[in-house]
Amino acid sequence: MRTSGTSVTVTASVLVLAAYTLRRRLIERRLRKKRKQASQSSTTLDPTSAEGWASLRANAHALLDQCCDRFEAATEGRTWTPLPTSMKKALHEPLPREGISREAQCARLASLLPYGVGNTHPRFFGWVNGSGNAGGVLPELVGAALNANCGAREHGAIHIEKQVLEWCRSMMGFPPECGALLVSGTSMATIVALKTARDKALGIDSSRKTGLVRAQAGVKGALVGYMAQGAHSCLTRAFDILGLGSDALRLVPVRPDFTMDLEELGAMVEEDRRAGLTPFLVVGTAGSVNVGAIDDLDSIATFTEEHGLWFHVDGAFGAPAVLSEMVRPRLRGMERASSLAFDFHKWLHVNYDCGCVLVRDREAHLRAFSERPDYLVGDERGLASGQPWPMDYGPELSRGFRALKVWSHFLEHGTEKLGASITRNVEHAHYLATKLDATEEIERLTPVSLQIVCFRYVPRRAVGDLDVLNNAIVVELQERGIAAPSTTRIKRQLVIRVSITNHRTRFEDLDLLVAETCNIGAELAAGDMSLRVSGSGESDSGASVSSSVREVA
Ligand SMILES: Cc1ncc(COP(=O)(O)O)c(C=O)c1O
Repeated sequence: MRTSGTSVTVTASVLVLAAYTLRRRLIERRLRKKRKQASQSSTTLDPTSAEGWASLRANAHALLDQCCDRFEAATEGRTWTPLPTSMKKALHEPLPREGISREAQCARLASLLPYGVGNTHPRFFGWVNGSGNAGGVLPELVGAALNANCGAREHGAIHIEKQVLEWCRSMMGFPPECGALLVSGTSMATIVALKTARDKALGIDSSRKTGLVRAQAGVKGALVGYMAQGAHSCLTRAFDILGLGSDALRLVPVRPDFTMDLEELGAMVEEDRRAGLTPFLVVGTAGSVNVGAIDDLDSIATFTEEHGLWFHVDGAFGAPAVLSEMVRPRLRGMERASSLAFDFHKWLHVNYDCGCVLVRDREAHLRAFSERPDYLVGDERGLASGQPWPMDYGPELSRGFRALKVWSHFLEHGTEKLGASITRNVEHAHYLATKLDATEEIERLTPVSLQIVCFRYVPRRAVGDLDVLNNAIVVELQERGIAAPSTTRIKRQLVIRVSITNHRTRFEDLDLLVAETCNIGAELAAGDMSLRVSGSGESDSGASVSSSVREVA
């Protein structure tokens, strides 16, 4: 009996201990889970509660509405509204140590919406800026949600990029086996194209390994290239960046229509060869930045073929005009280029930024950039399959998903509409030129080739410096919110330059531009600045726009 009493006691103790241990374990597990949750919520950057996600959704929807509102009102109000001084000051704040609420974050973001460059407005005519489009907001959302690194590997985004590049190739008439890459814009596309041309001319292995100085010593003489006077500065910058030196890019004189004089080109190449140099490249321009001139690309293609030279085309805004039935015949020969650089963010209106480079000799393109250390080897299957990768065609390893917005843009609008919009801008430019020619105080200085018109306001009564006057007219047009042309120099004279790469522009916007140019010109020439409406400082969106602007808007 004693024995059985003792065993009962022992059994009870064991059970108590087991229950205690189990309870302890459960408590510990619960604590561990809590600790893990606590540590996750303090380091993850995503919302950590149902309320947090609900707040993200609600605020995102409201912000999206505000973005759509901005585009819906794009034809109204001022063209350019500078950031108010108070906001500039408020931006000077220390690097935040603690985050702000979702509401505060969205309020800060939305507060920027009135203060763009102005290039979404129908009277933005400065430099060569595309005007973007409302549908472009959507791929930005999906792109951010995917957060794809498009430098390499096998995933959905890479296939979208391949499709976009295939569309570009066929749009520009390049062969199926060419090299191609999406980049930030034509400046970067030019660097990629010219590096390929340089390395091919120097012998790819030597130029990549031993460096330019030793590689140059291996060819007959230093490399030299040619482009028309007035071609874009991104080419001289590329020569500088590639170590060739900007002096090695010769400026070929132009004909009265601002296109390259091919006789001069021939003479310059001959002279350089006689001097022991090595001509390797000719740049043709499809739409020059100052006046929109299109070089005789077909003849340059023939010339470069005969002389064994690389033919690069800068088609930053002009190349997409192949989509315009009116302009397409004038781009003949572009499809014969060794390389072509162009932008989606200019005359195609994809929201900033995206450009493209096409290189006829894919092998040379790959050899100029491809580099595969151990940690970047490809494979037949898995994530590391799908060779070659975009990183093999350019200098960047990590890259964003630019292809998505271009893909979405073509799907949304189609090439017919995009081409028609380009044609309409060319018609706008001719309309403006006719109007200017009929205006006594205006002197037009360039022929209309594409979408650019350059002119000066010349008052009947002689005033001082016309350069100063015309520059002041442009600044006044911008600061009063009326329109945003820019300036350049034609034959050393400062001119008002109007570039109409804008799908929102209406003919009446050009009427207003001419009328206001003359009004402001007369006002400034008379020395009467009392009519000034707004300065460059504090201004509210649309508040100080002049009454004539309101009529059009
Ligand atoms: C003819 C031409 N080439 C090149 C460029 C440079 O292009 P991006 O600004 O995309 O680098 C421009 C810019 O306006 C241009 O007009």
